This record gives sequence, structure tokens and C-alpha cells, in this order.
Amino acid sequence: MSTIAPSKEQLLAEFESKIAAEMKIEPRDWMPDEYRQHLVRQISQHAHSEVIGMQPEGNWITRAPSLRSKKILLAKIQDEGGHGLYLYSAAETLGISREQFIQWLHVGKAKYSSVFNYPALNWADIGAIGWLVDGAAITNQVSLQRTSYGPYSRAMVKICKEESFHQRQGYEIMWKMMEGTKDQQQMAQDALNRWWWPALMMFGPHDNESANTSNAMKWKIKRESNDQLREKFINKTIPQAELIGLKVPDANLQLLDDETYKHGDIDWNEFWEVVKGNGPCNQQRLEHHKRAHDNGAWVRETAYVAGLNQK
Ligand code: 3HC
Repeated sequence: MSTIAPSKEQLLAEFESKIAAEMKIEPRDWMPDEYRQHLVRQISQHAHSEVIGMQPEGNWITRAPSLRSKKILLAKIQDEGGHGLYLYSAAETLGISREQFIQWLHVGKAKYSSVFNYPALNWADIGAIGWLVDGAAITNQVSLQRTSYGPYSRAMVKICKEESFHQRQGYEIMWKMMEGTKDQQQMAQDALNRWWWPALMMFGPHDNESANTSNAMKWKIKRESNDQLREKFINKTIPQAELIGLKVPDANLQLLDDETYKHGDIDWNEFWEVVKGNGPCNQQRLEHHKRAHDNGAWVRETAYVAGLNQK
């Protein structure tokens, strides 16, 4: 006896009931095209961010001030590469190849986090990146562990375990520098001054300016909004700065009656200029990525011939 295929309305109703029941949507489940597209965009851009984020720190491996700090930095950067791989694998479950994601990145059709378009000028920047950039990333990623798409949620659980080490090692670098000479203390404060606002921008535009947040919240892809996560990050990080004698570069920062902080205005012109490709390092980051991808073609080809990889 032939069974009648469920209508699109029935499929949508089943999808929505799973989301409402906090069930994970898996790759073989029916999902609205818009949900799939939203995930393709967000997860692949997340993966691009992890991999391009290796560049500013990679420049400092040979200049790390001690063998211990070099080993820690090497481990962190290696973790980031692995995070990129988990996330590309999660994105590929949506039916698009890694090669396609990379090609979209190279032709400017895909984004990566704007924060990685700033230069790492000295060792204090490596501390600020770990403390602030990974600190912001983990604030976002802990929330994303509850995202509705199964493969993305499981990737986040694994990534968050490593991300907390990244944040702590960065904060340790800043702490040590603040216990150092006056010059080292000035370097740490200068790095905080340069990385504070780009770290706040990592959470994206304000909720009322965010093109994607309403769908993201409706489908439980995001569990907290851009502004909620930014405020969480600020309220966690400012006491850490004050504990080691650093001053957050926000002249309009307010401590509210409920003991939470309200930050000053973010320079959204700077944000959109960097997102559009006009940041200090955009061209350098993309050229480096293209060069590395081209130089690695023989590895992919060998893996393909050996049957370890499909084209
Ligand atoms: N840099 C570049 N583009 C950004 C951005 C940023 N900091 N913030 C927002 N955008 C883009 C969005 O991608 C979107 O453009 P698109 O529609 O072409 O993709 C546009 O600006 C509007 O922003 P929305 O808030 O509407 O977009 P989202 O709902 O996607 O929110 C996001 C942006 C908060 C980054 C969200 O995509 C997200 O949570 N992504 C997952 C986490 C992530 O990607 N983090 C990046 C850093 S990973 C990292 O730091 C690694 C760590 O180990 C160091």
C-alpha cells in the first residue's frame, strides 16, 4: 500500500515541534531551506574565523619569550585549526563541500570575524587576544552549545573545553606583564586599548540592527542575542582587568545600580569598514589564506588519490 508523502505544512509543523521541544535537528531531518541556509552561512563563517584567527598568533610563535610560552602558543594555535575542521565538518553535513566554502571565502562571498583583521604588534597582543578574543568567543560558544542543530551543538561542546584554556593562558600573559616593568605594564595597557573594542564587535551589531538575530532566536540557533552575550562578556571581563591593574578604554563606561556595566558607544562605522574589507590586515589575511590553500593542494590531491578524501 503506497504511503502518502507528508505535505510541506506537515513537515514544517514537525520541524517546529522539535524546535519547541528542545530536540536537536539532525542532518537527515527535514528542515526549512531558510534554516539550512542560515546554518550554512553561520557555521562556515565560524570555521573561517577559527582558521584565519591562527594568523595573528602564528606570527609570534618564533618570537615567544620562553620555551614554555612557545609551547602554550603552539598548542593553542593547533587547537584553533582543529576547531576549524570540526566546524567545516559540521557545515558539510548541510550538503555543501569544504572546497565550496573556501572558494566563497576567497572570492569575498563569505565573512570571517572582523577581529582578526587587526595586527598583533607585540607579545602583549598575544595575551590580549587570548584573554579578550577567546574570552568573547567562549562567551558566545558556551551559549551555542545549546544551538538547535545537532552537529553544530556537539562541535561547540568539544570546542568550549579547549577555549577556556585559550582564555586563561591569555589572561596569564597579561597578569605577568602587569607584575613586570613599567614598560611591560604600558605594553599590556596599550594592547587592551587596541583590542577591547574589536572584541566587543565580535558579538555583531546591536540586536535591533541585526539582520539575522530574529530568525536565529526563532529557530534556537542562537540562544542569547548579540547584546546579551556582549553584556555577559563585559561584566565578566572588566573585573578581571581591574584585578591586575588594567583600565578598560571606555570613557563612557557606567557601573549601574545592579552592579552591571553599561559600555559606551561602539564605533559601528569602523566595524562595517573592517567587515567590508577595509581593516588594517584584511588583504594580508586573505592573501595568506589563499597562498596556504594553494601550497596545500598537493596534500589534498595525495589524500584524494590515496582514497582518504573526496573531491
Ligand atoms: N565580523 C564579521 N562579520 C560580522 C561580525 C563580525 N564580528 N558580526 C556580524 N557580522 C556579520 C554577519 O555575518 C552578518 O553578515 P552575513 O549575513 O553576510 O553573514 C552581518 O554582519 C549582520 O550580523 P548579524 O548579527 O545579523 O549576523 P549573525 O546573526 O550571524 O551574528 C555572529 C553574527 C554573532 C558572529 C554569529 O554569526 C555567531 O554567533 N557566529 C558563531 C560564532 C563566531 O562565528 N564567532 C567568530 C569568532 S570565532 C573565534 O573567535 C575563534 C576563537 O577560537 C579565537
